[in-house]
Amino acid sequence: MVQRVALVTGSSRGIGRAIALRLARGGAAVAVNYRERRDQAQEVVEAITRSGGRAVAIAGDIASAVDCTRLVEAAREALGPIDILVNNAGVFRRGDLADFDFTQMDGMRNVNVDGLARVTRAVVGDMQARRWGRIVNIASIAGIGTTAVGTTFYAATKAAVIILTRRFALDLGPHGITVNAIAPGFIETDMASQSGADFAVLAAKAMMRRVGTPDDIAAAAAFLASEDAGFVTAQVLTVDGGRTDFIAHT
Ligand code: NAI
Repeated sequence: MVQRVALVTGSSRGIGRAIALRLARGGAAVAVNYRERRDQAQEVVEAITRSGGRAVAIAGDIASAVDCTRLVEAAREALGPIDILVNNAGVFRRGDLADFDFTQMDGMRNVNVDGLARVTRAVVGDMQARRWGRIVNIASIAGIGTTAVGTTFYAATKAAVIILTRRFALDLGPHGITVNAIAPGFIETDMASQSGADFAVLAAKAMMRRVGTPDDIAAAAAFLASEDAGFVTAQVLTVDGGRTDFIAHT
């Protein structure tokens, strides 16, 4: 079986880390991108290599156009052309209409939206040449209509991720490349903790009566990145323990 090469942005911790480990378990060689914490990225790489896999840690701030290009080049040089891209890196800045700081919006959009588009553009050439590719974007249920206070502008960036997913799928389908998004509900990570979320309250508002784990998202990403998902494109897979429907219908 051919060994696929995956790049997971922001994979030194949280959801990205779980996705990197999961893809490696499925046989992919993985480029573990990090912004600052080389030590954490290296720990992910070591976990993969200890289990017999291939991985490399690559620095790169996806808010920087130059870094995005360098990141993809470095991954290619270390592991070969990228077959699977998971656009996971993201930031959350609290604020609604009355109090939002628009310079923070620029920073958040630059990572969540522009960065995702930059990295995607940098990888698609190789995918097109090989007529095979899987792109998985990590959006959020915030982008599909939940209404948590303080998340208005973050939600706008994630709605943009969803529309970019559908449009990139349209552009890239004829080249054998699928593009899908995952919309996670609340997942226990540093981001969720720092947002001040009360996990017990959130658990009570999901059909499954729990918040999610990074592995819940990694399992969905592994499916969308797999050979088996070759006819699935332009989709948003909600992985939220039933939170969105629970809010809407109870
Ligand atoms: P996290 O804060 O634990 O991890 C985010 C990762 O992205 C970190 O490794 C961080 O260094 C990296 N990152 C941030 N800015 C970057 C940049 N400019 N360049 C490179 N890397 C950068 O958060 P978590 O929860 O693991 O989030 C992962 C993704 O899942 C994000 O896109 C987030 O918006 C999304 N998400 C998370 C949810 C949650 O409840 N935790 C819910 C819905 C979506």
